[in-house]
Order: sequence, then C-alpha cells, then structure tokens
Amino acid sequence: MGTPIKLYDDADGWKTVMFLYNSALKEVNTKLEILNDEFQHVHQYNPIEHIKSRIKSPESIVKKLKRYGYETSIQNMVEYVNDIAGIRVICSFTSDIYRLADILSRQSDLKVISIKDYIENPKESGYKSYHMLVSVPIFLSDSVFDTKVEIQIRTIAMDFWASLEHKIYYKFEGNAPDYFSQELRECAKIVSNLDVKMLSLNEAIKKYSDK
Ligand code: GTP
Ligand code: MG
Repeated sequence: MGTPIKLYDDADGWKTVMFLYNSALKEVNTKLEILNDEFQHVHQYNPIEHIKSRIKSPESIVKKLKRYGYETSIQNMVEYVNDIAGIRVICSFTSDIYRLADILSRQSDLKVISIKDYIENPKESGYKSYHMLVSVPIFLSDSVFDTKVEIQIRTIAMDFWASLEHKIYYKFEGNAPDYFSQELRECAKIVSNLDVKMLSLNEAIKKYSDK
C-alpha cells in the first residue's frame, strides 16, 4: 500500500486508509468464520472459540510512531505500524492454533509477511501467543491494495493470562513490583501445563469415541 494516499489530500487519505484496514479486517474475519463453519460441518467440531477484532485508535497509532521515532504521517503509519488492523483468534487447544495458522498461510490470496511464535519461544514476561502478520488484497472498483492485518492466535488459557498481565502492566505503567512479575511467570507455567493436560485429555477422549 502507499500509492493510494497520493491520490487524495490528507483528510481523505486518512479516511481511505482506514477504509482499507476495515475492509481487510472483514476479509480475514470472513476467512476465519468460513474455516470454523467448515470444521463444524465436516468434523462437528469448532476450532475457534471466539474472534475479537479492532482497529487501532488514532492516538495509539501516533503514540507508536513516536515510540519508533517516526514523524506522524499516513505514509509512515502504513509502512511502520503493523497492527492497525488486528484480529485475535481464541482457540480451545494449542493444536488448533497451528492447524489454523497452517491453513491460513496456504490460502493463495493471503501473503504471510512475518510470524512470531511466542508459544515455542515465550516472552520474558511469560507471554504466549502465535502472531501472524499477513496482507490481504482489497479489491476496489479500479484498483487492488494489499493491506496488513495482525492476527494473534492463542488458547483460552493464554488469553486469560494475557488479559490479566495487560491489566497489571497498565496499572503500573510498565513498572510492576517484582512480586507481580514473578507471580505472572508462575501463572504462565500453570497455563502451559493446563494447555498440555487439556490437549492430551481431549486426544484421549477422541480415541475413546473413535472405538
Ligand atoms: P508492539 O509490542 O505492538 O509494539 O510490537 P512488537 O513488534 O513488539 O510486536 P509483538 O508481536 O511482540 O506484539 C504485538 C502485540 O502482542 C501487542 O500489541 C500485544 O497485543 C501483544 N503482546 C505482546 N507482548 C505481550 C505481553 O508481554 N503481554 C501481553 N498481555 N500482550 C503482549
Ligand atoms: Mg511488543
């Protein structure tokens, strides 16, 4: 993207770009819903518990550009802020995460720009999640624009952890007392154990019902 903005003046440029990001969210949401429906139809099973999506607020976009050391401009925001359109997909089991990611990455219209596997390599904080930065083509009447969407895929347990950690992080503006960070790391371990146990229990149940 980048070229469309030159076609408009600044106020219209902002609207156009936001229109593209909103459209990209719709496209990816629909892809996920279709996959979930297909799984329900074929396997009587929903890999997705729920989906949340959001467009980053103008304030947060400006804050991020500042943090990265870039001037506020539409060009910079399109180029450097990767999570203007964000989707969070909550699954039951870790295996669902990798299955979904694999299926999405094989869809021919969707380009995978980068992957961050914080399940395989959790953050220092204990944060776990699978991040995919993708772009989807948005077809307008006489042009096509590849538009970026950040997809975060995690289990219910990982999401539970991330919500509490986020709350604590904001409350203490990033300087939480050691006690909280330690407790959170402890919780992260419990979350990982829970995910492993729930997955193996589910596998066992599946074998049982196959008999
Ligand atoms: P930003 O963190 O967004 O500036 O970009 P980044 O390049 O560091 O990307 P990363 O993939 O690490 O993080 C992107 C998003 O993942 C964040 O905006 C959060 O939504 C989520 N995230 C990353 N790390 C953490 C974490 O430690 N705790 C929580 N709760 N969420 C996190
Ligand atoms: Mg970060």
